[in-house]
Amino acid sequence: MEVLGIDIGGSGIKGAIVNTDTGEFVSDRYRIETPKPATPKEITASIKKITAFFNWKGKVGCGFPAVIQSGVIKTAANIDKSCIGANANKIFSKATNCKVKVFNDADAAGFAELTFSEVKNQKGLTIFLTIGTGIGSALFKDGMLIPNTELGHIYMKNGLVGEKYTSDATRKEKDLDWKAWSNHFDEYLKYLEKLFYPDLFIIGGGISKKLDKISPFLTIKTKFKPAKLLNNAGIIGAALLAK
Ligand code: BGC
Repeated sequence: MEVLGIDIGGSGIKGAIVNTDTGEFVSDRYRIETPKPATPKEITASIKKITAFFNWKGKVGCGFPAVIQSGVIKTAANIDKSCIGANANKIFSKATNCKVKVFNDADAAGFAELTFSEVKNQKGLTIFLTIGTGIGSALFKDGMLIPNTELGHIYMKNGLVGEKYTSDATRKEKDLDWKAWSNHFDEYLKYLEKLFYPDLFIIGGGISKKLDKISPFLTIKTKFKPAKLLNNAGIIGAALLAK
């Protein structure tokens, strides 16, 4: 089956048509800038632009950087606060004339990873993390998604939430070198380790390409691996979940 997958991120909104049996793109990827401010109205216009670009009439799956319950946006850590309470499934479907289903972005990316990459038969408890503007998380038990975990928002010892303490945005903002940033990240992972005793961490987001720079500073006991689907995971996972 083919589904249009869309990933709404802090800087870009990207879409591609996905073959949900193979996880492969059957179109090029189309990207537009995320509107600023990213209000429901502006985001809806962007979604409409993407479906129109592909002249799409079928199902649409959309990854969104917030808690999403039955299509309703519940939080807004890194997006415009006016998004809270909006029924994204309804608004996007009406605007595009397509059946649109919206999910948390990290849940979508993690779901793609556990369906199509080398960890596809992963047993036990897996914590998938996307390290970007914020920190997104997806929790899996024997490959089954437990949606809407917000592990980027646990409080660290210094009173900052995890994603303010150790996101990639924080690394850039504070101009931290890899050692300094990795020490923060290690502390964050150790806290998750203590809370969940996972069997595996999968590290996604741009940082996954830099894991060789970070690994020497990580003291966690849990196995960890970089995500493999990189930029495309969010699009693929959203399409899969919407199927
Ligand atoms: C949001 C999450 C989202 C993550 C990554 C966090 O600030 O609360 O819902 O998954 O950013 O975009």
